[in-house]
Amino acid sequence: WPRTATWTSGELHLGGLPATELAQRHGTPAYLLDRADFEARCRAWLDALPDGDVHYGGKAFLCPEVVRWLADLGLSLDVCTGGELAVAMAGGMPPERVVFHGNNKSLDELRRAVEWGIGCIVIDSFAELDRLTSLGARQRVMIRVTPGVDAATHKAIATGGEDSKFGFSLSNGDALRAVRAVRDTPGLELYGLHSHIGSQLFDTEGFALAARRMADFAGSVGVTRLDLGGGLGVAYRPGDPEPPTPSDVVAALRKEVGGLDLAVEPGRSIAGPTTVALYRVGTVKGTYVSVDGGMSDNPRPAMYGSPYTAVLASRASDAPLERVDVVGKHCESGDYLVRDIPLPGDLRPGDLLAVPVSGAYQRSMASNYNHVPRPPVIAVFEGADRVIVRRETEEDLLRLYV
Ligand code: LLP
Repeated sequence: WPRTATWTSGELHLGGLPATELAQRHGTPAYLLDRADFEARCRAWLDALPDGDVHYGGKAFLCPEVVRWLADLGLSLDVCTGGELAVAMAGGMPPERVVFHGNNKSLDELRRAVEWGIGCIVIDSFAELDRLTSLGARQRVMIRVTPGVDAATHKAIATGGEDSKFGFSLSNGDALRAVRAVRDTPGLELYGLHSHIGSQLFDTEGFALAARRMADFAGSVGVTRLDLGGGLGVAYRPGDPEPPTPSDVVAALRKEVGGLDLAVEPGRSIAGPTTVALYRVGTVKGTYVSVDGGMSDNPRPAMYGSPYTAVLASRASDAPLERVDVVGKHCESGDYLVRDIPLPGDLRPGDLLAVPVSGAYQRSMASNYNHVPRPPVIAVFEGADRVIVRRETEEDLLRLYV
């Protein structure tokens, strides 16, 4: 739970505000983001790496208000599409603190980034190097390297293995050829090397192995800066193993990279635990508890089989617990949010369910499946609530149709 979460008579309070009041004011489903928690998690990374750079991985969750918090706290920002770039600009992030990733950046995206004065572009392929060269720009770049580390995580989010759509392989010599090609390109400054081995990682060994390979390579080509990506995992349920801390991760990296300049790109470990998704219970049928959201606001269970938990957040209940599935309102059976969890046996329509650790890759991956408008994000902070992403409406959806 986010750090300001408290429980009074069975009711969840966040940022000093009762869940029932927030639900009444903003409707459900809604993502409630604890700003104090978000900022504390940013600071934990900044404190862990006082002599380096912390780029927040914007893909986890991004909106202009969050960009303003990041800018004020002194973080930098990792974006990976023209859309994320647009949000960075809208939020007023200084361009020199933005790094642009992605395995298929278009000429137009590259041009916008260069014209804005972006701090760094991470070159992912020779084709992209050609595209950037064709702009004739003066630009700082990093080279994305696949260090050949098979991270222990779901295969959809492991990115550092040999067979990957990302980056230049270290083992087949492409990474070395990319370094030479960049150095031979007038206008481009080789600022550093980048790698990212995967996401939702729980041991520091994968990070350390990648760091060692990257540091060796950097040494051999005379590069002094490494950006080692994100990937630190979070616990989604009570009883899940606790991940290492940012300091643990940085210590493991430091040990391998010595005095090289270091940057990291945490996304999930900052945004994930800060946010609670709030749903209202509708139909209760047998072991199925249907809520007013589902796979459109959280595709992760259906996509990756990701485990979550949910708790009754609007009242106390001493009814015996029963094992149920929390399912959504979408038109398919794969639409579940939480499988097989114990909830009070007297759940009824109108109850609120809270799903913690909903801050990363949920609003950012939400869809409009079944024409369900996407939920708002409400920032709670010191007893005040503020809409930082408004609820989508059916009108918003209809506006697209010709
Ligand atoms: N840097 C790069 C280059 C990345 O590709 C990513 C994540 C990050 C940083 C941030 O990683 P994090 O600290 O959040 O693990 N949709 C998936 C996660 C995809 C992660 C993609 N890249 C999920 O819902 O689990």
